Amino acid sequence: MNKKVTVIGAGNVGATTAQRLSEKALCDVVLIDIIEGMPQGKALDLTEAAPIEKHDSKLTGSNKYEPSEGSDIIIITAGIPRKPGMSRDDLISTNAGIVKRATEQAVKFSPDSILIIVSNPLDAMCHVAYDVSGFPKERVIGMAGVLDSARFRAFIAMELDVSVENTHAFVLGGHGDTMVPLPRYSTVAGIPITELMPQDRIDSLVERTANGGAEIVKLLKTGSAFYAPASAAVEMTESILKDKKKILPCAAYLSGEYGIHDLFIGVPVKLGAKGVEEIIEITLTGDENAALMKSAAAVEELKAIIKRL
Ligand SMILES: NC(=O)c1ccc[n+]([C@@H]2O[C@H](COP(=O)([O-])OP(=O)(O)OC[C@H]3O[C@@H](n4cnc5c(N)ncnc54)[C@H](O)[C@@H]3O)[C@@H](O)[C@H]2O)c1
Repeated sequence: MNKKVTVIGAGNVGATTAQRLSEKALCDVVLIDIIEGMPQGKALDLTEAAPIEKHDSKLTGSNKYEPSEGSDIIIITAGIPRKPGMSRDDLISTNAGIVKRATEQAVKFSPDSILIIVSNPLDAMCHVAYDVSGFPKERVIGMAGVLDSARFRAFIAMELDVSVENTHAFVLGGHGDTMVPLPRYSTVAGIPITELMPQDRIDSLVERTANGGAEIVKLLKTGSAFYAPASAAVEMTESILKDKKKILPCAAYLSGEYGIHDLFIGVPVKLGAKGVEEIIEITLTGDENAALMKSAAAVEELKAIIKRL
């Protein structure tokens, strides 16, 4: 029997995620949205592409949660994206309500699933899903660091004119203006980028990475990035479904790691069949640690807003 993944929110990120999951033949996909007919239409359209794309993944669209029953993974992309000039944090009250309702419904039908949260503001939405689901911390994971580090990797490859496949990058912290790209741990064929480009170029790539989402929002004018976010959610999903145990930067619930308690924030984790199987603690310099603490304080503020809603 195929693995089953439900994607909640069949908008730009959700539909692209469904497309990539099915075209990689990773699982059957259930696409859920509140707009009548829309998830059904997108699922049917993707189904009709299957003979050409050569896969047998089953795609189902629905406005109800019954078809999601027994999902291995639930990916939550429901919510509004930001508009030019908005920060991710401006979305908090609208998206908290949406993520709460989506989580409640989803976990009723898939009590043993793993939740991957995509909706923004990401770290705060992880808290909503964690609180509402009552799931253990290993089974609630936020997608941000894989996207942010892919952006950093793309910029490094562009700068040095090398294959993206040779690049590795690490981005820690919250998914917002305070994210912490780590040049020391970012490499090209194993060589730290600090050996390959001057500090001012690194600083400019780091800044472009931190503003990577806003750069695309400004260009698109309506909506936010979705191709790379979908790829990132799919990489996490694949690592879990195939128990690959990839080390990926994800928003995970920390209980003491990095000196942080009771908070979802981006750190390197081992993703396998059980979800977050390990949180990797790397040694940070004083400056890096200060940047992570600043980022954690920003997420704490959002968490406090969620508690008051
Ligand atoms: N974590 C990240 O790195 C990252 C990256 C990109 C986008 N995002 C976030 O993902 C979310 C979705 O972005 P998008 O570009 O796909 O937006 P979109 O507007 O294209 O799609 C969102 C969909 O959610 C649906 N929806 C709203 N309420 C719902 C509910 N209660 N149940 C089910 N579906 C519901 C809408 O009808 C819509 O189709 C946004 O919050 C965005 O900020 C996060």
